[in-house]
Amino acid sequence: ARVSVRGALGVQNANGERVTVQGWIRSVRSQKEVLFLHVNDGSSLESLQVVADSSFDSRELAFGSSVEVQGQLVKSPSKKQNVELKAEKIEVVGNCDAKAFPFKYKERHPLEYLRQYPHLRCRTNILGSILRVRSEATAAIHSFFKDSGFVHIHTPVITSNDCEGAGELFQVEPSSKIKVPEENFFNIPVFLTVSGQLHLEVMSGAFTQVFTFGPTFRAENSQSRRHLAEFYMVEAEISFLESLQDLMQVMESLFKTTAMTVLSNCPKDVELCHKFIAPGQKIRTYAKKQLSNWGADLHTEHEKYLVKHCGDIPVFVINYPRALKPFYMRDNEDGPQHTVAAVDLLVPGVGELFGGSLREERCHFLEQRLARLGLTEAYQWYLDLRRFGSVPHGGFGMGFERYLQCILGIDNIKDVIPFPRFTHSCLL
Ligand code: 4AD
Ligand code: MG
Repeated sequence: ARVSVRGALGVQNANGERVTVQGWIRSVRSQKEVLFLHVNDGSSLESLQVVADSSFDSRELAFGSSVEVQGQLVKSPSKKQNVELKAEKIEVVGNCDAKAFPFKYKERHPLEYLRQYPHLRCRTNILGSILRVRSEATAAIHSFFKDSGFVHIHTPVITSNDCEGAGELFQVEPSSKIKVPEENFFNIPVFLTVSGQLHLEVMSGAFTQVFTFGPTFRAENSQSRRHLAEFYMVEAEISFLESLQDLMQVMESLFKTTAMTVLSNCPKDVELCHKFIAPGQKIRTYAKKQLSNWGADLHTEHEKYLVKHCGDIPVFVINYPRALKPFYMRDNEDGPQHTVAAVDLLVPGVGELFGGSLREERCHFLEQRLARLGLTEAYQWYLDLRRFGSVPHGGFGMGFERYLQCILGIDNIKDVIPFPRFTHSCLL
C-alpha cells in the first residue's frame, strides 16, 4: 500500500508491512554495510528512516532527490523512531545535483538566505513547519467561526471603494493587449481590496454574524518586518453588538482558541519554530519616549513600548481620536477629546495584530461625516444600510501573517507566507 511518511510513522508495532513511500531525501548516511536515508514528503516534520543494504548505490541517492521506496515497515532498533522502512526497491524519480542545489546537507540556513529561493525553501524543515502551522491555523479559524455560529462570506477582491480611506490602493486595469469595448472595463476606477469590511457590513445586516478570510492588498511601503503588499486578513462583523467589550471578547477568544488548536494538532512544528529563533534575536531596545501627545498617532515604537510597559503581554488600546481613524467608526460623543469606539490589539514582538471598532449605525452621524469627506454620493448604498433596519454593530480584522509571527515567534513576516510580495519584490 502507498502510505504517507506521517502514515508510516504512525504505525504501531510494525511487523513487516509492505508499503511504498514517496518523497524527497533529506539526509544520506552510509555506514559499512548499510545506508540510512531520511525521506520526507511534507506530511510531518519527521522524516522516515529508510535502511538500505550495500546493494544500493549511494551516489544515486543524493540529498534533495525525489524517490519512491518499496519495502517493509519494521520496528526500529534505535530510540529515535518507532519504525523504519527496510528497503527492497528504491527508485530515483528525479535526481538532484547536490553542487547546484542551494541547500546543503546538515547546514542550517538562515531564514534570510532561504527567502532567496521561494520555489525551493518549502523543502526545508523550518518552512515546512511554518506552512503546516499556517494550514492548521487556517482550518482552526474556520472552525472557530463555524462553531460560534458565523456565516462565511466570500467578499470581493476587486472593489471600487477604499475602506480604510488611506489611499494605499492598487488600481486594477485590463492589460493593454485586451480590447475593451469601452474606454474603461468597469466604467469606474477599481482597486484590489484593502479590507472586506464594508461588504461584511452588508452581510451582517442579513446574517447577523459573518466572517471572511482572504487576501487583501496595500500599496504601502512594505519593506518592514511586519508589512506585506499582499496579506491575508481574518475579518468578522457582528450585528446587535452593544459594546467594545463584547467585541474584544470575540477577538480574544479567536486568538486563544486558534492557538490552542494549532498547539495540540502540530506541537512539533510549533516547537521547531520556537527553537529556530536565534538567541538574542527577539531582544530589541526601545527608546522610552513619552507616549505621543494627545491626538498624535501611535507609531511602532510607541506600540512596542506600551506592550513592554504592560509586561510583554497582548494589550488592547481603545477609543482613538476620531481624526486618526476611518469614516465608519462610531462617534463616542465625548466632547473636546472627540474619540471613536476603536480597538487595536497590540502583541509582543509584532505590534498591531487586530484593528476593530463599533461602526457608526446612526444615519445622521454618518451623513455628516461622509459629507465632510465628500463621499456622500459614493456611499449611498452604505447609508441605505442605516436607513433600512439599522442595528448597532461592529467588527475587526486580524492580520493572519502577523498572527503566525506572534504564535511562532518569527521575526520577519516574509517567512510566514508562501510567496511574499512587498515593495520592489514579487518573485515567481
Ligand atoms: O487595522 P486595519 O487596517 O483594519 C482594517 O482594515 C479594518 N477594516 C478591519 C475590520 O475591522 N474589518 O488592518 C487589520 C489588520 C492589522 O491590525 C494588521 O494585523 C493587518 O491587518 N495588516 C497588515 N498585515 C500585513 N501587512 C500589511 N501591510 C498590513 N496592514 C494591516
Ligand atoms: Mg489598524
